[in-house]
Amino acid sequence: MRAGYLQFRPVFGDPEANIKKIRKLIGKKKFDLLVLPELANSGYLFSNKNELKELSEEIPRGKFCSALTEICNKSNGHIISGICERSGNKFYNSSVLVYPDGKIITYRKLHLFNTEKKWFSKGNLPLKVNEIRLQNSERVKTGMMICFDWIFPETARTLALQGAQIICHPSNLVMQYCQRAMFARALENHVFTITANRTGKDVKSDGEISFTGQSVILSPKGNYLSKGPKNRDECVILNINPSDALNKNINSKNNLYSDRRKDFYGIN
Ligand code: ACM
Repeated sequence: MRAGYLQFRPVFGDPEANIKKIRKLIGKKKFDLLVLPELANSGYLFSNKNELKELSEEIPRGKFCSALTEICNKSNGHIISGICERSGNKFYNSSVLVYPDGKIITYRKLHLFNTEKKWFSKGNLPLKVNEIRLQNSERVKTGMMICFDWIFPETARTLALQGAQIICHPSNLVMQYCQRAMFARALENHVFTITANRTGKDVKSDGEISFTGQSVILSPKGNYLSKGPKNRDECVILNINPSDALNKNINSKNNLYSDRRKDFYGIN
């Protein structure tokens, strides 16, 4: 299957410009699954609730979801993207899985990072695997987690135990660890991981924050199949074989799942 990431710098406060950039960078590329960064519609560094109100959208009715649906429909591919979501009077740091037929599945970030706690409600939806159907009719199970979720290994583990073959990871990474740590998330679960990170800075009158780029794709054996640049836009789409993630054997005597000693792990 053709799977990859789109790394770019969302402009804070300009969803229209971000949609335009996404369209341009995707162009006529063919993909089954493409992962975009966290908060790709809005940018990251909020200063007040009014900005949140203005830049968030309801799923699936908003303009960003409509634009992604149009792209997926035209290309017969699936997109997983971070999105600033409004639901009633609450705001969520969410991601959407958009199908070519317009179906949209939402995940809300469970582990909010730093000042995100000031702006967003904690995710309240279960971690769930979603099947997508490729152009060759093969079915592949995908899972979503968002940025800082990576540091809680239970997130990727829960998705993997449900059968995720590819963990899709929209991100706005600011620390230096994740791109290295994804080696462990991929290897310990024997899954593909696609971390789509953003580049550049959000600069506001009350502060600024820099992001680390270097989006990564890992194989179930922990090999880096792609590592993006620090500061440039990049759309990488690779041929991968998702069935490589189905075999959980480490050798003829060890299996990642059946060797688990659940009785000794205690509760929770
Ligand atoms: C992060 O979770 N955006 C660092």
